[in-house]
Amino acid sequence: MNVLVIGSGGREHALCWKIKQSPKVKDLYCTPGNGGTSIDAKNVDLNVEEHQQVIDFCRKKKIDLVVVGPEAPLAVGISDDLEKAGIFVFGPTYAAARMESSKIFAKELMGRYNIPTASFRIFDNFEKAEEYIRSQGTPIVVKAYGLAAGKGVIIAETQEEAVKSAKDMLVDKVFGSAGSKIIVEEYLTGEEASIIVMTDGENITPLATSQDHKRAFDGDTGPNTGGMGAYSPAPVINDELLDQIMQTVICPTVEGLRNEGILYKGVLYAGLMMTDKGPRVLEYNVRFGDPETQAILPRMRSDLAELLMAAAKGDISGKVIDWDTREAVCVVLASGGYPGSYEKGKVITGLEEALDAGAIIFHAGTRVDGKKVVTSGGRVLGAVGMGSDIKEAVDNTYMAVDKINFDGIHYRKDIGYRAIARVGT
Ligand code: AMP
Ligand code: GLY
Repeated sequence: MNVLVIGSGGREHALCWKIKQSPKVKDLYCTPGNGGTSIDAKNVDLNVEEHQQVIDFCRKKKIDLVVVGPEAPLAVGISDDLEKAGIFVFGPTYAAARMESSKIFAKELMGRYNIPTASFRIFDNFEKAEEYIRSQGTPIVVKAYGLAAGKGVIIAETQEEAVKSAKDMLVDKVFGSAGSKIIVEEYLTGEEASIIVMTDGENITPLATSQDHKRAFDGDTGPNTGGMGAYSPAPVINDELLDQIMQTVICPTVEGLRNEGILYKGVLYAGLMMTDKGPRVLEYNVRFGDPETQAILPRMRSDLAELLMAAAKGDISGKVIDWDTREAVCVVLASGGYPGSYEKGKVITGLEEALDAGAIIFHAGTRVDGKKVVTSGGRVLGAVGMGSDIKEAVDNTYMAVDKINFDGIHYRKDIGYRAIARVGT
């Protein structure tokens, strides 16, 4: 089969790297792709916002399956248009993608099907939001309801801060229409974990568990980022907890959507807080996690292309994913200044040496410039090492990370520390 992957990050490089390993795959394309996908696939320059352009390309190149990486194209219905054109697509439709593109849709669905989440109120009026916030304790959480590039969640330590955030969103429109409605919700405490599953709308197959590190600096401090690293498996989720999350969160979500006429095909990612009252949903994503995917896919033994096609065709029944028992760690190498402003075009050295050290190197913000590979984004590379336990996986990863350099390089030195502490090594 011929496959087109949409996206340009580390997640999409990992998808291309794994899809390419399938003996069933003939031609593999990525749009717009990055320096890494140009090695594992053919990069093509399409305007993904123009769905007809994507459809025309698929027809010309006889693409059998489109795999959508990021949420933005899903939120505007690229899957609906590709399906209408008779092209199989892995990724939910517009209606289903509202689980991520509208936090209100997600919250209301959770309410209808008794799926555990933080208690909340929805506001489109600032005065009413302020009155409510002033009647509540702190910390309190204020969220823009739409897609805000990961910046729309404010954990306010004081009522003043919460009121200011509500004003920023509702009155000053700092997130545009994504903040025209807000959710004010209960602050939850506990350890965070995520569950990522693949579904055809009826059958559900969980992927290996994983955990990311969202903060920029060691010790989970500093600003939130897209993710500075990840590891798989996540020891916080044992078999019993996984079972509980499947029964109380994942199955009711997929069934609830189906009950409302929405067949969810693709990846469903639930971000959870493990509170002392049990798991609570923080958010849903409608796509693979980044950088979780970079830590998960190197452990997958099954044929990913075959699985994605089965889900796109609407039948993954009987498909069981086979996993490598080794553990995997992904350390993200970022540009100095990320997630704030940073410089681009820095020459990357040591990539070959890192590969020789046994790591897998996934590219994110890179570009091939003649014989050189240069930086072109905030998150530049993901180095992945494996080991028989988390400690060995961490050591193998940092051995490879040490070989790589570029001007201003920044990475965390403590990826996986919570998992190491949990197993007590
Ligand atoms: P979200 O995009 O909704 O997952 O929020 C981003 C991050 O904010 C999460 O990963 C949590 O660390 C934090 N967060 C979101 N909602 C809450 C909540 N109700 N209580 C505590 N932390 C939260
Ligand atoms: N790593 C978090 C996400 O993909 O949303």
